[in-house]
Amino acid sequence: MRIGVFCSGGDAPGMNACLRAVVRAAISQGHEVVGIRRGYQGLLEEDFFRTAELQPIMKLRSVSDVLKLGGTILGTSRSERFRSEEGLRAAAAILKKHRLHALIPIGGDGTFHGAVALARYWDGQIVGCPATIDNDLLGTDFTIGFATAVHTAVEAVDKLRDTAESHQRLFLVEVMGRHCGYIALYTALAGGAEIVVIPERPTKVEEIIAELRKLKSRGKKSAMIIVSEENNLGGAARLEAMLCQAGCPYETRVVNLGHLQRGGSPVPADRILASRLGEFAVKAVLQGRSGVMAGEVRGEPVLTSFEQAYSGHKAVSDDLYALLRILAS
Ligand code: F6P
Repeated sequence: MRIGVFCSGGDAPGMNACLRAVVRAAISQGHEVVGIRRGYQGLLEEDFFRTAELQPIMKLRSVSDVLKLGGTILGTSRSERFRSEEGLRAAAAILKKHRLHALIPIGGDGTFHGAVALARYWDGQIVGCPATIDNDLLGTDFTIGFATAVHTAVEAVDKLRDTAESHQRLFLVEVMGRHCGYIALYTALAGGAEIVVIPERPTKVEEIIAELRKLKSRGKKSAMIIVSEENNLGGAARLEAMLCQAGCPYETRVVNLGHLQRGGSPVPADRILASRLGEFAVKAVLQGRSGVMAGEVRGEPVLTSFEQAYSGHKAVSDDLYALLRILAS
């Protein structure tokens, strides 16, 4: 069997670990792997990974030493052309021309929407691996890259706390996550933040001011608010302006962590998850499965249809949100 593998959408730490697992699991079962560079756009441009001998296949040694690397050695993209009917037909024709039987896309919800669209024009098998720092997919407890993104954000929060304490300031730290508050909530808990603002729990400026005044009266010298990039109050800069106008009891500073959270060497939890899911995706392909994402739920490998994986909002835990409020006091 000839299996194509590629990364697509926003990169996530652990994509390389997943690629390594796909390549080695498939080759160990006697199959061939074609690496497609730069996601769906690379597929449309027939941009394949090549060996030193210029062969368009991946070998065991093609993925040596990539386990610890951030980013993706295949590159990634968000392709406009692939969204059109013309693009989808062209991609299907290229897959047929290169005699690919199956595809393993490594990416997030946009990647899986693309896989579902492609399946209307191509009859090969598609089994995906969830890799996005946002952790916004159903059918897996955690996505590849989430743990590293939180680790990076917490390291930043720890450093910011040092200067916040010295100057008795309030820091508003904006983190990624698109429409999902997972990164913000986990960063807030692990970083000992006082307040978290996430899309799943709409909040009011007055409530935040009241909480800050309470904290100040209890002797808190500094404070940390973790702000998810999308929430009912807007980003960290906008929230800072609103807090200042409403009489914030602390001097404020804003830090936007932005794409920092997408880089860096994956933490062990991401390397292990990526390795397990890459191998599991290959197994699923060999069992004839298609249209599904390989995930891990309560430690067990689980296949979930792409449509289900991106259909609903992944709820953040009420318990963790409540815990933050208790511990921040
Ligand atoms: O989906 C991953 C993510 O990093 C989101 O958290 C963020 O909103 C978005 O991608 C940023 O995308 P881009 O890299 O295209 O700016």
